[in-house]
Amino acid sequence: MQHEVVVVGSVNADLVVGVQRRPEPGETVLGSDLSTFPGGKGANQAVAAARLGGRVGILARIGDDGHGDLLKNALSRAGVDLGHLILTPGPSGVALITVGPDGDNSIIVSPGANGRLEPTDVERAGTLIAGAGVVSFQLEIPPATVAAAALAAERAGARVVLNLSPPAPVPGELLALCDPLVVNEHEAAFLLGDRDDPETMARGLLALGPRSVVVTLGAEGALAADGSGVTAVPSPKADPVDTTGAGDAFTAALCLRLARGDTLVEAAGYAARVGAAAVRGQGAQSSYPTPDEV
Ligand code: RIB
Repeated sequence: MQHEVVVVGSVNADLVVGVQRRPEPGETVLGSDLSTFPGGKGANQAVAAARLGGRVGILARIGDDGHGDLLKNALSRAGVDLGHLILTPGPSGVALITVGPDGDNSIIVSPGANGRLEPTDVERAGTLIAGAGVVSFQLEIPPATVAAAALAAERAGARVVLNLSPPAPVPGELLALCDPLVVNEHEAAFLLGDRDDPETMARGLLALGPRSVVVTLGAEGALAADGSGVTAVPSPKADPVDTTGAGDAFTAALCLRLARGDTLVEAAGYAARVGAAAVRGQGAQSSYPTPDEV
């Protein structure tokens, strides 16, 4: 395979402000100085997998605004293949992020160029997708593009991994290709229409049709579920500084290890360690570990 992991997804500039608490509607609060980081769930995954030593490609769009160079350079420095990073007239994706005292984050995404990643871009990236071990998706690009690329990946014999983030309805045909579907507890509750204990939700999600499911549980690790059952995977303890992008690092590590032949439980165990390492520094990509650090 040419690339172990190909990410079809978003690239954002993360504009981050630390706050003691978030404002109520109509209220103003003072925060820290503004920091600008490279981010976006797709780019984060690509950088995380490349930093772990993976051969990684990305199909994505960035704008021709002032953020474009920052975003492209971050991917390039990590060693991600940029042959299908498409420069697009107009703004890049931007994420407005507040980080609270416990390292928890709230995010608003303005899609910019990500919203212009079309199914025709997927057609032009046929060779990239066909040469992938695993193709990884999130939901910050148009749903029709995700569906077209997932179908292309399946037809080419690549493994499809979908992180349902931010949560949105997905057609049953797309769910059926996921191996695994990766969700946190909020996203699981969104798909199921109700919150329950994590194991019940994992079983409920499997019943919706994906080949396998991973439910991430933050500091508690994750659940890996497939036809053979549900397995709890622990996470090492970490003192969180900024949790932004930790889920992306988890999914990236999961994809890489699946591409290298790990079982779902083995891959999820490694991913939990990578996710824990990713909360120890500010910003998303800047805190992603190398294999030695894992
Ligand atoms: O998952 C974290 C990411 O979500 C941030 O980097 C931000 O860009 C948003 O896409």
